[in-house]
Amino acid sequence: MLAAYAAALSPADPLSGLVVDDRPAPEPRPGWSVVTLRTAGLNHHDVWSLRGVGLSADRLPMILGCDGAGVDEQGNEVIVHAVVPSEGWRGDETLDPRRTLLSELHDGTLAEQVIVPTANLVPKPAGLSWEAAACLSTAWLTAYRMLFTNSGVRPGGTVLVQGAGGGVATALIQLGSAAGYRMWATSRDEARAERALGIGAAAVFGSGERLPDRVDAVMETVGAATWSHSINSLRPGGSVVISGATSGDAPPKAELTKIFFKQLRVIGSTMGTREELRHLASFVVQQRIEPVIDSVLPLAEARQGFAKMVEGDVFGKVVFTMP
Ligand SMILES: NC(=O)c1ccc[n+]([C@@H]2O[C@H](COP(=O)([O-])OP(=O)(O)OC[C@H]3O[C@@H](n4cnc5c(N)ncnc54)[C@H](OP(=O)(O)O)[C@@H]3O)[C@@H](O)[C@H]2O)c1
Repeated sequence: MLAAYAAALSPADPLSGLVVDDRPAPEPRPGWSVVTLRTAGLNHHDVWSLRGVGLSADRLPMILGCDGAGVDEQGNEVIVHAVVPSEGWRGDETLDPRRTLLSELHDGTLAEQVIVPTANLVPKPAGLSWEAAACLSTAWLTAYRMLFTNSGVRPGGTVLVQGAGGGVATALIQLGSAAGYRMWATSRDEARAERALGIGAAAVFGSGERLPDRVDAVMETVGAATWSHSINSLRPGGSVVISGATSGDAPPKAELTKIFFKQLRVIGSTMGTREELRHLASFVVQQRIEPVIDSVLPLAEARQGFAKMVEGDVFGKVVFTMP
């Protein structure tokens, strides 16, 4: 079957280890289900994997991809949940210290077929398109948990999203505005700022620009480049929810004094549970949200989508369709 996989790892040149070619189809396994994928989504996680972050050379070749939607062996339309807990784990999968994401230990979704624990299948609501379904499992699920589970902010509150164009950032803007939050965003790029206004942002500011007011919460995925701005933008008692560090995890200043003096809360957030994914899929359909998609490409052209993400030239999700 056709698959996009990591054949080598390179911190500096992630695309050098990417191969799009045939891989063996998955072998059936008790308790697991083979899903014939219709669509799959690209995440920054796939680029990190090619850089060797979270993926070691002894696990190669590894099919990449955390997001996917397709049809299981019984003919059910399903969305694949990417968090694979260790055997016997009960409760919130994201808190299992031995959990893995698809493509870290088990082959991922950028392929014609994937095999996952049957418990990782979530029904695809009938009103959800295949392209939209491919967006939800990682970036959208992470945004859902950051905002609705972890931020502590109620609808009506003001939330700043650092970055406007990314998969998580666009999901936050669309989810938050649909739920009645005042969503502000920052962007390095004027065109992306303009587009963010079109998907529900109430205001967009230049990266690092002083805001007209302090916010209740900041959603961080950029990391080092925006950390000080995030801390400075919060009202006393506000929270910063962090799920990524695209620009690096060593900010020039940790801002420890401001964090304790303003009694800020710093909350780490990763992915979401299967139940959160189920609720997210319902919410998207009920609110008639169309996840912003940057581009839809046949899997055979996956390299083009990876290159856009490496260059930071995306607005929304990159989705692959299967042959
Ligand atoms: N913990 C988790 O479970 C989880 C889940 C999903 C993603 N993540 C992480 O979250 C991050 C974003 O993921 P994604 O898939 O949304 O990636 P992406 O699509 O590549 O998004 C990049 C985002 O970062 C902004 N950005 C990048 N570099 C910047 C810089 N130097 N200064 C200011 N803004 C910058 C961009 O905004 P503009 O271009 O508009 O400025 C854009 O919004 C990644 O690091 C990913 O690994 C973590």
